[in-house]
Amino acid sequence: MDFKEQIDINRLPEHIAIIMDGNGRWAKNQGKFRVFGHESGVLSVKDIVEGCVEIGIKYLTVYAFSTENWNRPVEEVNALMELLISTINQEAETLNKNNIRLNAIGDLGSLPKKCIEDLDNAMQKTKENTKCTLTLALSYSAKWEIVEAAKKIAKQVEQKEINIDQIDEHLFASKLTTSNIPDPELMIRTSGEHRVSNFLLWQMAYTELYFTETLWPDFRRDHLFEAIVDYQKRERRFGKISEQLN
Ligand code: FPP
Repeated sequence: MDFKEQIDINRLPEHIAIIMDGNGRWAKNQGKFRVFGHESGVLSVKDIVEGCVEIGIKYLTVYAFSTENWNRPVEEVNALMELLISTINQEAETLNKNNIRLNAIGDLGSLPKKCIEDLDNAMQKTKENTKCTLTLALSYSAKWEIVEAAKKIAKQVEQKEINIDQIDEHLFASKLTTSNIPDPELMIRTSGEHRVSNFLLWQMAYTELYFTETLWPDFRRDHLFEAIVDYQKRERRFGKISEQLN
């Protein structure tokens, strides 16, 4: 039986987050430049978006560029930005036709101007779509996001709009860049690395983590379905004991 057939569609994760890792190694294994791995990685993104829509996943978030990625060689950063711009422009219409909303989180103001403009246009064009929300984490780091949220709250306190006792988890979450999307139930990281690398640290408090050796450019929807089957075998207790769950 293939993995898709094993999925219980009544117990799907609503939101899947992915750390797409291994593009560089995939390219190097073939004697190619790293950027070839990133280009091939875009094909995986497309297949995974289609796979999510095929089975009914409502939210998909992919870590496309971290704050720390700015420290890569300038040629690679530039190539990634170019790839981002070309992919957004090539795919915006297809996303729209398929009722997919494009969203972005991160320090978007630090991206090149053309990237910000094209991203804004694509998000604007797809903002009414309801089938699936594809969120690109761009120039994103969870520590940055948490500090920004803390600053927003401090400002509200300073301006006496709220008092300190009103600060709770709900208020804090509402100041994060993910305030309009639910927390992920499942996080997948490819390429055999077992880290969360500053990704959605607040939002992943109770997320199930799934690690696979598959390099991102080789990752296809059947790998996604395999991860979902694995997720559905797990017991999510949220601090309770097994007997309390039913
Ligand atoms: C990690 O592999 C991958 C990235 C830092 C970039 C991911 C970008 C893409 C898949 C393309 C753009 C995506 C969109 C949504 C347009 P790595 O370079 O760290 O690989 P390595 O660990 O093998 O060196």
